[in-house]
Amino acid sequence: MAPEAVALILGWWLLAASRAQQLPRPSLSLHPSQGVSLGDTVTLRCHLPQPAAWVELYQDGQLRSRKEMDQEQDVAEFSLTGIKQEDAVRYQCQYQGLEPAGTSERSDPVKLVVTDHRYPPPGISLSPKEHVEMGRNITIQCWNKKYGASFLLHKDGHSAPIQHQEPDDEGTATFTLFGVTPADSGIYRCSYRLGGCCLLFSPPGDNVTLEVIPRPAIPGDNGGPSRNLVAVVVGRWVAAIVFIIILTVSVLLVAQRRQMQRDERPGGEGVKWL
Ligand SMILES: *[C@@H]1O[C@H](CO)[C@@H](O)[C@H](O)[C@H]1NC(C)=O
Ligand SMILES: *[C@@H]1O[C@H](CO)[C@@H](O)[C@H](O)[C@H]1NC(C)=O
Repeated sequence: MAPEAVALILGWWLLAASRAQQLPRPSLSLHPSQGVSLGDTVTLRCHLPQPAAWVELYQDGQLRSRKEMDQEQDVAEFSLTGIKQEDAVRYQCQYQGLEPAGTSERSDPVKLVVTDHRYPPPGISLSPKEHVEMGRNITIQCWNKKYGASFLLHKDGHSAPIQHQEPDDEGTATFTLFGVTPADSGIYRCSYRLGGCCLLFSPPGDNVTLEVIPRPAIPGDNGGPSRNLVAVVVGRWVAAIVFIIILTVSVLLVAQRRQMQRDERPGGEGVKWL
């Protein structure tokens, strides 16, 4: 009994100790998170789940900056001014906890995607054009012969690109949307990634608008309302006929009983008149 109790206490103590060392992760957010261009200012916010002594910002795994914290602060802000090409990378943050003490794990990485307006936007085309029936396959082509390395397809209302594609020898990327539905309707654009170190992209080009029209109803297939009407009419007729039958049967029964009563009476009316 005693060794088991010792093992239990020891296990609990080890668990508590390991918990104290693995502080919950912070989370990192970017402001603004989209449409950042070279030269802009971006704010990175590290959200702390508990009071911290200091917070560190990591740029592609390398320590970039450290901030001493007040106990009440639950967010650490880092500003990056005059964004340069090499700033377009992944960021993480980490903190030193006060109570419990220990160092947290690093946050999930966030990507700082930067637009370089010195490059031309890609061309774009949609086939077939604009209004298409549901179920069709749609292709969107994007091209830039000179710089296009890897293309991204963006849909308005979505923060992340919806597809990416390598270009062919002519510098054209072909995106296919299979069996489109009305949910695929929307405004599409594309951009391309610039070669080199970082998360640098061309400006997004012109937009194309896709409108998927719902498939027209096939005649005869969708006869719901008329079928219901038929059911109602037939129902009323059946009710009327049943009513007439019951009425007729009742009248006949009453008539028959009267006849029987008349026949049973001695010296019935018929006889009286004779
Ligand atoms: C769409 O593409 C798929 C795969 O290539 C093909 O099997 C299908 O028949 C195409 N559908 C239409 C409507 O063209
Ligand atoms: C799409 O492009 C056309 C001209 O190319 C422009 O007039 C329109 O404002 C654009 N739409 C959006 C939502 O950007």
